[in-house]
Amino acid sequence: MPEIFINGQPVQAEANQTVLQAALANGFYIPYFCWHKELSIAGNCRICTVQVEGRSWVEISCNMPVTEGLHVLTDSDLVRAHRKATMQFITLNHPVDCGICDKAGECTLQDYHFAYNGSPSVSREPKVHATKFHDLSERILLDNERCILCSRCVRFTREISKSNALGIKNRGDVSLVRAADDSPLDADPYSDNVIDICPVGALLSKPFLHKARVWYLKPTPSVCPGCERGCSVNIWHRKAEWHLRALDPKQNTSIARVTPLENPAVNGPWICNKGRDLAQVFERARADHALQKGKPVALEAAIAAARKLIEEATHPVALVSNWGSNEELSAFKESLAGRFTTFVKRDHSPQPGERLEDDLLILADKNPNTAGARALFGEESLREPLYPADTDLVLVWGEGCNFATLPAGAKVVFLNSYLAPENGHADVFIPVSIQTERAGHYTNFAGVVSAFERCFAKPSTVADAQELFAAIAPGPAGTP
Ligand code: SF4
Ligand code: SF4
Ligand code: FES
Repeated sequence: MPEIFINGQPVQAEANQTVLQAALANGFYIPYFCWHKELSIAGNCRICTVQVEGRSWVEISCNMPVTEGLHVLTDSDLVRAHRKATMQFITLNHPVDCGICDKAGECTLQDYHFAYNGSPSVSREPKVHATKFHDLSERILLDNERCILCSRCVRFTREISKSNALGIKNRGDVSLVRAADDSPLDADPYSDNVIDICPVGALLSKPFLHKARVWYLKPTPSVCPGCERGCSVNIWHRKAEWHLRALDPKQNTSIARVTPLENPAVNGPWICNKGRDLAQVFERARADHALQKGKPVALEAAIAAARKLIEEATHPVALVSNWGSNEELSAFKESLAGRFTTFVKRDHSPQPGERLEDDLLILADKNPNTAGARALFGEESLREPLYPADTDLVLVWGEGCNFATLPAGAKVVFLNSYLAPENGHADVFIPVSIQTERAGHYTNFAGVVSAFERCFAKPSTVADAQELFAAIAPGPAGTP
């Protein structure tokens, strides 16, 4: 462990660290644009300079190995003057259009300009213009005027997603990030990570474009249910104090964007594009009324009817959801598993064209809690359901069940969150809340348990499965 001195303070560094890493790990801030802890060192932005004591020049710290007894200054007059000059250079042709830029509020260029420059441009030359809003892919717009050519996005596609989809063409002030002709960014299922790691507002998410200023939003920690990796994510939605007085109240309870929540045990700092598109899953048309043989009834009446059917059944079978949380699955087991022959159903299957699996994050089982269900109901419960000949009731929880395969003549109690033709075919249909309306845990393929928190209140006409199971269990009635 080499000892180095930062601004005169002794610091125990790791043997293979750079000065930038040792400084950040020990509470000394050094600015950086092009360096990223998961990418190779490019050393092109020059903002991370420090001064080795006794030298009359500055050097970049992101590529300076620590050595025993090294003395560096992170805030000397020379370092400050160099950072100011670097910021002047980086913003030479930058449009400074923060007022319309989605990155405003999260942009290191803004922060560093304020911290290290703070002066208007010294240049008298007109700015060199470049492409505004270049279609980099179906999902991403590129504003070349805002790009500071740090090459993080290029290195991501070479080193992490390995699509080699991006490069930089031309030189000097006409350099441009562009997608490779033979490897389009659209084919890279991890492409949107470049939006997060771009230190400025050059790479823009089309679905999020001009949707909200980020300071109106708050992130709620959650788990992507798109596959059994269970990546940790932040679901961003409007803060209560910034609710809109809009005709459509859904604007205040909708998902603005989804970003990775760094979790070294599961997904590191990345997620795939499917995780970004969770609004397409959670914001499908909801089933928000209970039904009995297709006719709307009060939730309490549907619960009573379901309880009666369960009470009267002699050989009931349950197909439980592997989108259920550990808490919901446990509640089912506690209240109902003794009465039912239980199978765990796969709610979602791979969609046509979807990447099945790879060696970065994406896994073949497109459901979040198969492992949690296996732990509670056993490996046998995951096989295709075998219905005894005298099955007289099937409880179906969640999506992915082909009703045509259910035993003829058996009554059906169906719990689902979305509008579907099957809702009206069930003897009793009870609408249930979705992941964003409750808190819970999923267990991923490797046994890592991750928590998700509630983003929005559930509609009053739908039940929470965790409480519902006790309420439909024969015996003293509960209240969902
Ligand atoms: S688009 Fe962003 S990440 Fe890519 S080189 Fe430019 S500034 Fe860096
Ligand atoms: S890898 Fe799986 S869990 Fe992670 S973001 Fe993609 S679909 Fe979601
Ligand atoms: S962060 Fe060191 S040169 Fe860019």
